[in-house]
Amino acid sequence: MKTLIAYATRYGATEKASRLLSEELQGDVHLCNLSQDPAPDISAYDRIIIGGSIYVGQIQDDVKTFCSENLAALQQKRLALFICCGDEDRVQEQLEQNFDAALMAHAKPVGYFGYEYDFAKMNFLFRLIIRAKAKVRQSQYELREDNISAFADSLNGPLA
Ligand SMILES: Cc1cc2nc3c(=O)[nH]c(=O)nc-3n(C[C@H](O)[C@H](O)[C@H](O)COP(=O)(O)O)c2cc1C
Repeated sequence: MKTLIAYATRYGATEKASRLLSEELQGDVHLCNLSQDPAPDISAYDRIIIGGSIYVGQIQDDVKTFCSENLAALQQKRLALFICCGDEDRVQEQLEQNFDAALMAHAKPVGYFGYEYDFAKMNFLFRLIIRAKAKVRQSQYELREDNISAFADSLNGPLA
């Protein structure tokens, strides 16, 4: 089984989550940072996992472009989706806003991998937004390793 994890990240949380996931998956796993690496040819993979993080309600454009350019082919593959985001109450809403409905319906599993707020990496404006909107005053590292493991278990399972 050849798996591609295609992700985008601003400050590294989604990259960390993608690496943790890759370590738990069986088979041959290739990681691709959609913002840095050449566009991957998905025909070489049996399974595609796509993830990104949410900023002011939006996932990275690189994730949106990758999904729209491969929309038909992704529906012919085993597909799984995940996001990292700070607002756990709005995970489902933000997933539905950012991934095409056909991909959401086809993907299994669809996951939430937690978040990080790293004040040392954020610029002044972003620190201001996070203090005002999320009421967070210092760095928080809240990747959901339990969710990542459950997601991996589901992909490693007999029915995957
Ligand atoms: C300026 C800013 C805006 C954000 N907007 C949202 C948002 O609209 N909804 C949400 O759930 N999380 C939001 N977040 C939280 C990020 O999704 C979270 O920090 C995530 O872990 C970032 O992952 P990354 O480092 O891979 O980019 C925001 C974070 C920042 C810094």
